[in-house]
Amino acid sequence: MEQLGIVILAAGLGKRMRSTQAKVLHCLAGKPLLSHVLQATQRLHPDRLVIVVGHQAAEVQRVCGGQGIEFALQREQRGTGDAVRAAQAHFRGFRGDVLIVCGDTPLLTTATLNSFIQHHRAHHTTLSVLTTRLDDPAQYGRVIRKDDGAVSKIVETRDASVEERAVQEINTGIYCVQADFLFAALERLQPLNAQGEYYLTDIVAQAVSAGLPTQAVVTANVGEVEGINSREELAIMEKTRQTQLRNHWMGEGVTLEDPDTVYLAEDVTIGQDTVIGPNTHLKGKTTIGARCRIDGSAYIENCQIGDDVHVRFSVVLSDSELGDHTEVGPFAHLRSGAVLAPRAEIGNFVEVKKSLIGEHTKAKHLAYIGDAEIGRDANIGAGTITCNYDGFRKYRTKIGDRVQVGSDTTLVAPITIHDDVYIATATTVRHDVPAGALVFNSRREEVREGWTATKRAKEAGKK
Ligand code: UD1
Ligand code: CA
Repeated sequence: MEQLGIVILAAGLGKRMRSTQAKVLHCLAGKPLLSHVLQATQRLHPDRLVIVVGHQAAEVQRVCGGQGIEFALQREQRGTGDAVRAAQAHFRGFRGDVLIVCGDTPLLTTATLNSFIQHHRAHHTTLSVLTTRLDDPAQYGRVIRKDDGAVSKIVETRDASVEERAVQEINTGIYCVQADFLFAALERLQPLNAQGEYYLTDIVAQAVSAGLPTQAVVTANVGEVEGINSREELAIMEKTRQTQLRNHWMGEGVTLEDPDTVYLAEDVTIGQDTVIGPNTHLKGKTTIGARCRIDGSAYIENCQIGDDVHVRFSVVLSDSELGDHTEVGPFAHLRSGAVLAPRAEIGNFVEVKKSLIGEHTKAKHLAYIGDAEIGRDANIGAGTITCNYDGFRKYRTKIGDRVQVGSDTTLVAPITIHDDVYIATATTVRHDVPAGALVFNSRREEVREGWTATKRAKEAGKK
């Protein structure tokens, strides 16, 4: 089998984005453009995969995860041809085809790339370029064919004649080229064009004039090969990708009550028969189990949600785990490592941070639970606060099984409340409480009869 090498071009700044951030770092469905392309190419199991970096090289390298990825540095962005040449050193001793793709075409699928490579190999071609037809060829390079239909060259819009501009077949920027020819051709490039750049596209005319088998392969999957150049194009593509993701999950058996207002990140997964209401944002690496119900107006980021979970209307959940059969909300905030064991319930106006809530334990109203570990079958009353921070350090609260925490309880951490403790209403607990004990603060309750009338008369007299 011939070897397959891949070069992803990702060194450019992307001037038209008007950003301080390299273009390929901008996100589609919550994931950098380059990561989309990388994933599609990794699934081809190439023998070599080289990413050409330049602008913000360190940041770009950081988002590229995976084994066997090599990076080539293009110090100055002198054009797409120069970019591929920067990868040459990584192809020593390599015999086979090099697939070249741009890091700014995130909708590209492995299937389309694979059939392009198969076509290239089946026809024993030296150079294949993937093209498509657009109603508005805009800024893309035009594919110029001879009278017999064979490809002759690619011309950039800026260098094109009026006739050439009228051509609707465009260069997708995806090529499959025999390595020997590729690197020899790159040596011969001249920056003789409107932009003064080394154009990769010029290798097409080189192959043709050398009489080598050259093909322009037209794909009908127009949407897949679109490149992002501006924020407007990014926004349009985000809409497209959201529609694809929504349709995908509905196809997997998920109900979206108002699909247009459910926003899905690329790596989200959702189980069968889960129902998702309007205005739900599922971000990051969120997983949702089967038969869940998310009422709506939810912002959920990097959460692992089990099966049969009910997320009531209006919540913010991040970096948290919700066990099977748990209930959260309305108006709850779970964050930074909140973990709910199965059947736990978190109600309205409750914030849980970095805490473990035991099985079947409930905190249903107005509470702050931070840096705590709570056992099973406990009840946290309304207005309970774990005082975990003294202005310098954070301290932990431990609450055992079956503990009843009365309303308006203040727990001053570090503190341990052992199993089966009963904390009376309005108690400030400063010391550990042994198992099975009742704890309360003795405060005398006083009643002054007739006090209000006396007070009012006094205030009236002052006027
Ligand atoms: C390029 C093609 C054009 C094609 C279009 C498809 C050339 C000359 N033109 O134009 O025919 O229709 O892609 O999207 O190739 N890059 C580098 N180093 C550089 C320059 C660019 O790494 O010096 C990278 C960019 O980061 C980007 C890719 O190459 O990922 C394409 O560059 P871009 O400037 O967007 O090329 P286009 O003008 O769109
Ligand atoms: Ca482009």
